Amino acid sequence: MKRVLITGATSGIGLQLAKDYAIQGYEVLACGRNQQRLNELSQASRNITPLIFDLTDPAETSAAISNLPFIPTLWIFNAGDCEYIDDGHIDASLVKRVFDINVIGLAHAIEACQTYFEPGHHIGVVGSIASEVALPRAEAYGGSKAAVNYMARTLQVDLKPKGIDVSVIYPGFVKTPLTDKNTFDMPMLISVERASEEIRQGLSKRKSHIYFPRVFTSVLRLIGTLPYRWQNAITSKLLA
Ligand SMILES: NC(=O)c1ccc[n+]([C@@H]2O[C@H](COP(=O)([O-])OP(=O)(O)OC[C@H]3O[C@@H](n4cnc5c(N)ncnc54)[C@H](OP(=O)(O)O)[C@@H]3O)[C@@H](O)[C@H]2O)c1
Repeated sequence: MKRVLITGATSGIGLQLAKDYAIQGYEVLACGRNQQRLNELSQASRNITPLIFDLTDPAETSAAISNLPFIPTLWIFNAGDCEYIDDGHIDASLVKRVFDINVIGLAHAIEACQTYFEPGHHIGVVGSIASEVALPRAEAYGGSKAAVNYMARTLQVDLKPKGIDVSVIYPGFVKTPLTDKNTFDMPMLISVERASEEIRQGLSKRKSHIYFPRVFTSVLRLIGTLPYRWQNAITSKLLA
């Protein structure tokens, strides 16, 4: 039987992935902090086993992962959060909160899980298309996702000789509780159902880089090839 661990499975993209993989017949380890959501998930499908821990707490993460009921072959590191900076006024505690979950939390998760990694296993890391260009107000979030992107791409290089594939996932805007907080227009916003499908399809083909939605992420990647001053002129208008 196919087995997957998903962090951030109580909401948004991770929740949809957990439901969809369970329907596909996977045994799913659904991770998060929200006990009620995890209970609802495991009650909704007997293929879903909840794992509760806070990724910013290394001891809690390690304790939860050290006692897995089964060993996954697919590991999806998806948990994350987004907070924006206002008017270019850096708030170090905000930056720390965002990096603590998106970067250090990711490292805690991988550190705890890596003892189980074996040849043939597959890792998916959810980054963001925000890592490709400097977007307005994204000093903390974009910076954290640039770090995630670098970490995941480096892992691709280092784990390949061990027979372990790493896929880096670059979503554009997806409608979730995370983006429901946004007050600006989000071009080409897609549903979680579509995001889950794109991710599952990309992972099933073992794509090393999974970008979606195609048009929006292609435009941003194209902008990312321009001189920085042109990039800034375009992105400041794109997400005003
Ligand atoms: N939505 C988008 O447009 C978009 C675009 C690009 C990239 N992404 C990335 O996609 C991922 C999922 O985003 P989403 O939109 O689905 O967000 P979401 O609906 O807010 O879900 C975030 C998930 O992360 C978990 N999480 C947050 N902090 C945690 C912590 N300290 N410990 C353990 N789990 C924690 C949450 O679980 P608990 O609350 O139960 O802890 C929740 O399940 C994130 O990495 C995000 O950066 C999203």
